[in-house]
Amino acid sequence: MRTPSRSRRRADRLHSVTRSATSLCVVVALCAAGGASLRPEPLAERTVAATQAEKTVTIDGENYPNPLRLHDGEAVRTAAVWESTRRAELLADFRQNVYGESLPAPTAQTFDVTSTDLARVTRKTVTITVTGPQGTGSFAVQVFVPKTGGKPKGTFLMIDHRGQVGDDPDRSSGFAPVRTITDAGYAFASFDAGEIAPDDSGRYRTGMIDLFHPADQELPDDAGRTISAWAWGASRAMDYLQTDPDLDPATVAVIGHSRGGKAALWAGAQDTRFAVAIPNNSGSTGTKLARRGDGGVGAETVARINDSFPHWFPPTYKAYGDRVDSLPVDQHELLALVAPRRVVVASATEDANADPEGEFLAYVGAAQVYALYGLGDTGLPSPAWPPATDREFRGPAMSYHLRSGGHGLTAADWEIYLNGDLFAR
Ligand code: GCU
Repeated sequence: MRTPSRSRRRADRLHSVTRSATSLCVVVALCAAGGASLRPEPLAERTVAATQAEKTVTIDGENYPNPLRLHDGEAVRTAAVWESTRRAELLADFRQNVYGESLPAPTAQTFDVTSTDLARVTRKTVTITVTGPQGTGSFAVQVFVPKTGGKPKGTFLMIDHRGQVGDDPDRSSGFAPVRTITDAGYAFASFDAGEIAPDDSGRYRTGMIDLFHPADQELPDDAGRTISAWAWGASRAMDYLQTDPDLDPATVAVIGHSRGGKAALWAGAQDTRFAVAIPNNSGSTGTKLARRGDGGVGAETVARINDSFPHWFPPTYKAYGDRVDSLPVDQHELLALVAPRRVVVASATEDANADPEGEFLAYVGAAQVYALYGLGDTGLPSPAWPPATDREFRGPAMSYHLRSGGHGLTAADWEIYLNGDLFAR
């Protein structure tokens, strides 16, 4: 669907690589065979040649940054190198170029819990009080635990940017169907993202951000804004969930929809305590590949998201608005940062603004990192777009579905999540 001019631009920009992976394998094989007629190469040179990686990988015929290439050009061939080196490189790249630096861990933090017995669930209202160098503030987490006699099958922690979760589990929408979730044997926790950082360009610092930054000074250019703060809030909520004796901290999924999905994915990428990350219809600067631009369907670009929502991302990201091809990362690498934990991508057929195809391609593009762990099966019968709608595709650590219909987190999405056995391996 993309215009020829865009493809041509992309082609002009491709990095040329000195040697292909195939030719490198040939060099290694010949050396290993120790052919008498071959002049042995000096060891150091051979090592470099054998490990050099392509700068780019191809997704849908276009070039994207290679998640398995270290900054020094060497290839990541093992999960050990991914974890010791490449993960940290990519996290730093995303912080420096996309989401901004995260707020630090609080200097002090307390949890004040009020439990209420309700039909079939215990509701815990937890006030998390956080102290930073500039002051102290609080936000609330609601936790609904089913009375199953044992621990729940897992906990869904929602970054709720719509203020949809109230006190009553029976008065909830398809967006956050608390009773359905708890009746299925799962706990549900949520916090109002607006208490962490109001979704307002004039006030976004007034929640937690100004506990860490002097309110009378400009935020540094590379400091995270709203989306980063919401992800940080999910980690603070996780600090509490880890202490709750009624829950298993090893089975917590962080979930968010749309702008909340961008934050949920960033939280899941950074904080390895989350067993599962669920970015639902997260679109631009969530699951969608940035380099696809408007994806030929009028989807939200990097320039447009920063114009419309100037408080979501730092100036460092805004600078890529008209040169997205020079971003050192793309969003398939963000999904890959969840590996080897489960990543769940959910799109909707009519959600053009989020570029469902771009979300799908990022999902497929992340699989090569999961493959380092032997978990590269996406569950899809084919990497070609479009897949069948309204069914879950599930590999050992990756899940995907394409719901028919428009932008939303609906009962149909929850049905897939609740039946998806997301915490099993
Ligand atoms: C807007 C915005 C999206 C965002 C969405 C939402 O449509 O363009 O990036 O995901 O709002 O949060 O619902």
